Amino acid sequence: MSYEFILTETRGRVGLVTLNRPQAMNALNNKLILELMDALETFDNDNGIGAMVVTGNEKAFAAGADIKEMADKSVTEMMDRDHVAAFGRILKIQKPVIAAVSGYALGGGCEIAMSCDMIVASESAKFGQPEITIGVIPGAGGTQRLTRAVGKAIAMEMILNNRTLSAQEALQFGLVNRVVPNERYLDEALKLADEIASRPPVAVRVAKKMINQAYERTLTDALHVERQEFYNLFATEDQKEGMKAFVEKRKPEWKGK
Ligand code: CAA
Repeated sequence: MSYEFILTETRGRVGLVTLNRPQAMNALNNKLILELMDALETFDNDNGIGAMVVTGNEKAFAAGADIKEMADKSVTEMMDRDHVAAFGRILKIQKPVIAAVSGYALGGGCEIAMSCDMIVASESAKFGQPEITIGVIPGAGGTQRLTRAVGKAIAMEMILNNRTLSAQEALQFGLVNRVVPNERYLDEALKLADEIASRPPVAVRVAKKMINQAYERTLTDALHVERQEFYNLFATEDQKEGMKAFVEKRKPEWKGK
């Protein structure tokens, strides 16, 4: 399928989506978001893909929802169109998604990055939720996800007073996994995705789901589900192969079932 505002390609078992609206700092208009979600869902349904990377360009991952597109909208129009609901589709992706972020990750851009499973940042990445400066608040998970990621104190400064985090600060506060030089951030994210894509796919999917459950369930409930999921994996050929290969001191060959 051809898209207007994103580029897609595969690198081995990794699906790469590049946000491609550079003249507007990759501002997330409705069509771009729908294209991004469609591409991720297509990769998610492709047995040849084990993990995905979402990136932008060196100057901007994405500078937020498209302000020009929503500036004149009424409450009813915003609710009818419910543009932000489409952002939530990323949370249904079962395979790991890594954000490779350089430059601005602001507003909805920061929210998309935080909805990915890991973030690899370039040294010039900047994370912020500047919605307060245009009279609104983050609407695609920012108040909740940022607070869980960096804690209440920093989230308050970022959302109430437009504090922007440098890549190093984002690393320090636990928002990103690693910071790498600008010329290597995409390669680093692709390498990480490739490594994860070489792991047993069913266990990877279940592990991702259970980590995300840490934010949804009580501890007792989540531990109960985790134990059951652990036992369930003994129904997979990959569990038999993985443990047999360990005993036989050889590399396992995953079947994905
Ligand atoms: N929406 C629409 N257009 C945007 C945009 C956005 N979020 N961000 C940048 N652009 C456009 C600019 O209007 C400009 O277009 P023109 O050339 O047609 O004037 C072009 O991209 C280049 O931007 P700048 O000239 O502003 O570039 P800069 O280097 O001076 O500044 C920036 C870069 C700091 C990112 C600045 O563009 C900026 O502050 N952008 C807005 C950031 C923002 O407020 N994001 C939150 C959006 S609301 C949201 O995301 C809600 C939500 O939670 C879902």
